[in-house]
Amino acid sequence: MNPDLATHRVESLPIASGRTENGYRILDLFCCAGGAGMGYAQAGFEVVGVDINPQPSYPFAFIQADALHLDPKFLLAFDVLHASPPCQAYSDLAKRNGNGHKWPKLIKPVRNIFLRTGLPYVIENVEGAALLNRIEAAACTRPKAGRVRLQDG
Ligand SMILES: C[S@@+](CC[C@H](N)C(=O)[O-])C[C@H]1O[C@@H](n2cnc3c(N)ncnc32)[C@H](O)[C@@H]1O
Repeated sequence: MNPDLATHRVESLPIASGRTENGYRILDLFCCAGGAGMGYAQAGFEVVGVDINPQPSYPFAFIQADALHLDPKFLLAFDVLHASPPCQAYSDLAKRNGNGHKWPKLIKPVRNIFLRTGLPYVIENVEGAALLNRIEAAACTRPKAGRVRLQDG
């Protein structure tokens, strides 16, 4: 991990029209190419992403690392924590096919890491995942809106 990125500030956030930087830094774990991170950036957050795989298209500061083995001090450099752990094991498709065991179930370990920090957090996943305090959000990238479940602490 590049320690400089823990304090790195992104100067040119693509903030949505009518929004301003809100002064908060959010850690975007399991960031992939930045779908969730872009939403936070457009809401005014400064975003730093972490993914175990290289993400050359990620538009914000990026660290390639295992999200389950980050230094707790690094986590505390943020105001808010977000995670989008892999959803395959929780999906309706895996339930239907009876093969959910083929993928890791990371929601609980991530939640435990987040709870130890005392920071506000969000864990995003699919309908049917083991989330607490669910908030339902509709995705509008397809004509028939998909639904995701959000968890906040
Ligand atoms: C559901 S995708 C994330 C989608 C992303 N939030 C978005 O909005 O585009 C899950 C990501 O988790 C990453 N991943 C899987 N295991 C990981 C781990 N242990 N640590 C960090 N990233 C991991 C995968 O490489 C994948 O990019």
